[in-house]
Parts: sequence; C-alpha cells; structure tokens
Amino acid sequence: MSQLLIEGGYPLCGVIDVQGAKNSVLPILSAALMSDGECSVLNFPEITDTYVAIDILRALGAKVVKQQDCITINAKNADGYEIPYGLMRKMRSSIMFLGSILAKNKKAVISLPGGCELGQRPIDIHLAALRKMGVNIEENHGFLECSHSGLKGCEISLSFPSVGATENIMLAAVKADGVTDIYNAAREPEIEDLARFLVKMGARIKGAGTDHISIEGVSSLSGCTHRVIPDRIVAGTYLCAVAATRGNALLKNICPLHIYAVTSLLKEAGCDIKIYDDAVSIECDKLKSVPLVRTMPYPGFPTDEQAPFMALMSIASGNTLFIETIFENRFKHVGELLRMGAKITTEGRVSLVEGVKKLHSATVQATDLRGGAGLAVAALAAEGSTVISSVEHIYRGYENFEYNISELGGKIKKI
Ligand code: UD1
Repeated sequence: MSQLLIEGGYPLCGVIDVQGAKNSVLPILSAALMSDGECSVLNFPEITDTYVAIDILRALGAKVVKQQDCITINAKNADGYEIPYGLMRKMRSSIMFLGSILAKNKKAVISLPGGCELGQRPIDIHLAALRKMGVNIEENHGFLECSHSGLKGCEISLSFPSVGATENIMLAAVKADGVTDIYNAAREPEIEDLARFLVKMGARIKGAGTDHISIEGVSSLSGCTHRVIPDRIVAGTYLCAVAATRGNALLKNICPLHIYAVTSLLKEAGCDIKIYDDAVSIECDKLKSVPLVRTMPYPGFPTDEQAPFMALMSIASGNTLFIETIFENRFKHVGELLRMGAKITTEGRVSLVEGVKKLHSATVQATDLRGGAGLAVAALAAEGSTVISSVEHIYRGYENFEYNISELGGKIKKI
C-alpha cells in the first residue's frame, strides 16, 4: 500500500485539464462488448478502475488496444460469459457488465459484488429489472447464474433512481425484443453519455437524462468513436482543493452545467467562480460555511463530492450540516479529519461540521475513493506534513493526481 506525503499551506494556483469521467467510461466499456465492430473511446482516464474494466473485457474475449488517451475495443469474438471472481472483487462496478453480457449471450455468471466501504450496496433493483426482462437468476454459493431465452422489452419502474441499475437495464434493453420503458430512471450526465455512445452504435434510445428512458431493441450494433464527457467529480474535488488552500486556478475540459450544484455552493461559501464554455475558474480569499449540504441524485449535490466538500467546510467560518441521503455509510473520512483537528459530530447519516481556523498535519488513512480525496484536500490546507496511507483508493478515480496537484504548486509526493 502506497502513501502520499502532503505538505500543506501552499495555495494551489494555475491551470489544469480535467480527465475523462470514470463513471462514463465504465458503462461505455461494457456497452462496447455488444458491438459487432470496433469501438474507439477517447478521453480515456488512466485510473485503476478503468484498467479493471479492460481486464474484464479481455477475460470475456475482447481485444483491447490502448494508444495515448484512446482505447479501441474489438469484441466481435468475445463469447465469454463469466467475470472472474478476482475482478468482480476488485471493482464493484463490474456489475455493470451484467446487462451487456446478457445482451450478447444467453447466459452470464458473476460473483455477488458484496458490500463495500460505503455500506451494503445491494443489487436488488438491477436483478428485479433483469428478471422482468426475462432473465432467470439463481444464486449459487455467492455466484449469480443468469440465463434467458431472449430478452424482452417491458415497463420498469425503479424504486430508487439507481445509476447502475438504469445503465444495466439500458445495456440489456438495446438488443431486447420490443420496447423497454424505464420510469424513475437516474438522470446523471453519465447516463446521457452512455446513451450517446449506444445511439452511435445504432441503438434507439429516447429520454436519457430525464426520468423516463425509452429503448427500442435492435438486432445488431456497429462500431463507433466516442469522446467521453469530463469527470465532474474530479473537477469538483480540485475546486475544493483550490478553495481550501485559498488559491486561484482555471480548470479546463469541464462541462460547467454538470458541476452546477458544486459551483453554486462554492459561490455561497465566498469563492469567486467564473464559468466559461468548457472551463471554470475559481479564486478564494475568505471562506464561510454554507448551512446545509444534502446529497441527492443528479442534479442535486453529488454524494461523491460530499467528502471533499466536508474537508473544505471543516476550515470555513461557521457550521455546516451534512445529510447523506444516498449511501448508508459514507462518513468514514470523518474519523480521519478529526485526527487533523476538524470539529465534526456524526449521528447516522448526519454530520455537523463546526469550522476551525486551521487543520494540522496527522497520519491518516484513505478509507475509500472520495473519502481519500477529501483527506488530500484537508492535507493540502493543513499546517505541516500529512501522511495519507491506502492511497490506492484515490488512484481508482484520480488520474495523475500528484502531477496535477504539483502543477498547481502543491507539495505532494508518493512515498
Ligand atoms: C454510481 C456511481 C457512484 C455514485 C453513485 C451515486 C458509477 C460507476 N458509480 O454508483 O460513483 O456514488 O452512482 O451517485 O457510476 N441501491 C439499492 N439497490 C440497487 C442499486 C442501488 O439499494 O439495486 C442503493 C445503493 O445501495 C445506494 C443507492 O441505491 O444506497 C444509490 O446507488 P446507485 O445509484 O446504484 O449507485 P451506483 O450505480 O452503485
């Protein structure tokens, strides 16, 4: 396990480009499995989660070639239907391949993804929808054995707008017989990006980005070229880091609309934010608390931005109440922030942050991907040198993390 050494107190200033979106690339790589041609995916982020997805594609028999930020997938002869247990355990989002394997084959075998650091994370919504589409699913010693004799379009009303379930249904539905209507669908930008990719392949999809998505099945899908959208969560994390260090930076390759929930709260916190077509600048001299941060499905405040924003609010003047509505256990970073001098009280899904003047250095542990990023934000602002362990969590989602922070003038190194 690697560690990061961060010497805090240096304002982050300068210009950086934001990577492609992890949460877009993962379902898009899964979609590429269904193509009869070659798919090229541009703006591919080099992070460990996307490499796990490549390993899954290869395990299923696809040919994958990477050249700079472009991944080319040829899955014409990929007739594998089983995701190896080790890959499933490495990345929970491996579940995203279930819909496309079933669209390509009559069966799929995957291990149950199990719980993770954010809580239990059941997949009942995914499975109920696939069953409705005609998939027979049996649990066998921790594995899910799925089979069907033809996927059927149907009406599916989600009990919660699950991002992964919406994507899995879309993947299964594009080659199903008839029309599939998803009600209470997730509206995240990554869903729209997946739909754009699938439509380029020849799928018929309407309403992606709204809560009603309608998909008419087609018999085959061709190859295509697609550039994935910028990573809104990474963008938001860097904005928090710049604000926490009272810096001044321009983030390029961004879709400002996608991070509106974050930029509007940063403005409320006293940051000077300027929005351009595909960039956002931020300057921060004084920071005041915002009263309430409630995580919500898009377009609400993203749960993935909760930890970086909490790190920021822990050094703002005043109190902030955080309510985590998406995941049952997403405050693990709180204990680590306390080690750095933050004043936070947590009860269930609610945390009250009382801003302090300064955080101090400590030895802390990244507990999960975004929690780890939150600790890095805190460490960049803190007095002294902080050691963050288990930084593999951070590398799951942040490309060239040390390089980008160093480019902005932060003092960071891997040890
Ligand atoms: C996706 C994102 C993740 C983000 C999350 C919420 C990817 C690869 N990951 O995760 O970064 O934090 O959306 O915006 O895109 N749930 C169930 N049953 C299900 C499915 C979900 O109870 O079958 C629950 C989950 O436990 C969780 C909530 O619904 O509490 C949201 O989960 P979901 O939207 O499915 O998140 P993911 O797709 O896993």
